[in-house]
Amino acid sequence: MAKSPTEVELDVVSLSEDGLGGATLNERPIWIRNALPGEKVIARILKRRGGKKFADGRLIDVSESQVQPHKDRVPSACEYFPRCGGCAMHHMSAEAQLLHKQSHLAEQLKRVEVEAGQWRQPSALVRSGYRRKARMGVRVVGENVLVGFRESFSNRVARIDHCLTLTKELSALLPDLKKTISEMSEPHTVPQLEVAQGDNSIAILVRHLQPLTENDRALWQHFETHHPVQVLLQSKGYDTLARLNDDDKVIPLDYKIPEYGLSLQFYPHQFTQVNALMNRELVRTALGYLGDIADQVVADMFCGIGNFTLPLARAGARVVGIEGSQEAVVMGQHNALRNGLAAHCHFADEDLYSETATAEVDASMLATLRHFGQFPQALILDPPRSGAGPNLESWVSSPELEQIVYVSCNPVTFADDAKRLSDSGFVLREVGIYDMFPNTSHVETIGHFVRDK
Ligand SMILES: C[S@@+](CC[C@H](N)C(=O)[O-])C[C@H]1O[C@@H](n2cnc3c(N)ncnc32)[C@H](O)[C@@H]1O
Repeated sequence: MAKSPTEVELDVVSLSEDGLGGATLNERPIWIRNALPGEKVIARILKRRGGKKFADGRLIDVSESQVQPHKDRVPSACEYFPRCGGCAMHHMSAEAQLLHKQSHLAEQLKRVEVEAGQWRQPSALVRSGYRRKARMGVRVVGENVLVGFRESFSNRVARIDHCLTLTKELSALLPDLKKTISEMSEPHTVPQLEVAQGDNSIAILVRHLQPLTENDRALWQHFETHHPVQVLLQSKGYDTLARLNDDDKVIPLDYKIPEYGLSLQFYPHQFTQVNALMNRELVRTALGYLGDIADQVVADMFCGIGNFTLPLARAGARVVGIEGSQEAVVMGQHNALRNGLAAHCHFADEDLYSETATAEVDASMLATLRHFGQFPQALILDPPRSGAGPNLESWVSSPELEQIVYVSCNPVTFADDAKRLSDSGFVLREVGIYDMFPNTSHVETIGHFVRDK
């Protein structure tokens, strides 16, 4: 098989948690996309960083190498893999991806010496067309405009015409988005787009570095007329988001959680779980763990716009949702009102990472106390990738607290926090993974901790 000067033939010996095959080149590690342990690949070197090299791989013809593909290898369903960096595991079967993600979580728990009482069956409901939100790069290359994810290990925008991971409605917009930008007076002044889809509609956020001309506005007006979307212009931060017609208000999107008879509104730039079906399952599992919570007081930490807060309130709990984004708190309150749950929940705007751990009881627990006259009996924790932060021990120190459901998008910080909860007298009753992001290396973890009696 012919090789270019930047290509080398390598034996793959390991698989990283990011789905990269590991090999050695000149006694240094090299990490390769589209490569599985035991395989021989041609690796095209793309990037060097901190003594490591990163590459895209392609399997050597079996007849040339006598080395068989790994048993978990499947032909990629995506024609842009591995060049497009949006996904990392299209070359692995669904079962292998689940096992790989689960074993990474197990390794992390082993590292901190926390043992789970039991493991739940990994959850995976949809393989493609699940992604409802994305930020995509825009790049002008000659006459062409590219709209897509970054290429693997590079800042370049991948050349894609459709995407299997995006919902089919979002994917179908790509060609017309490119065309519209290419017809603008200065296409290179649009560095990025964001797309967000709710159950009711779609929003396109167009980041632009220069004011739009009348003709540019007319182009986007045309786009809005021909697609069921709301186009929002963004000249600087999200506080500059505006409709094409300045007098029109930005319309919130919404998503439903039918099991709890809920409809939640959100603005397209606000945090929401990207996989709607898996989110419903996640909420159902979290509440299932908590059991009968009627009349109990529950604190929902890092609550966003109320994704867990409102189902908890619907289940009869008295809930305090705590969140650092004031805008999300306002939306949470609004969602409580429109779902008839305002009497059952209260939203508080707090920086949950501010160092109050030395205080006997931290401010967020006081918010719960103030509002419902008692400390919470249960906690939901759903922090960003960095984990629960410095105040975790103080949140779980109150003797009233019986159980915690911890939802995490980072197995490493989940394990670190599991260790801290274990040292604070809680056992990990059950843990499992949710494949919220199939074919990517990301994974959601859910753990149920109960007080060790
Ligand atoms: C993973 S999201 C979870 C949101 C929500 N539970 C959901 O399911 O949609 C994490 C949330 O933590 C919030 N957050 C980030 N840093 C924070 C901080 N320092 N204090 C409080 N909340 C913070 C973010 O605004 C975001 O809403």
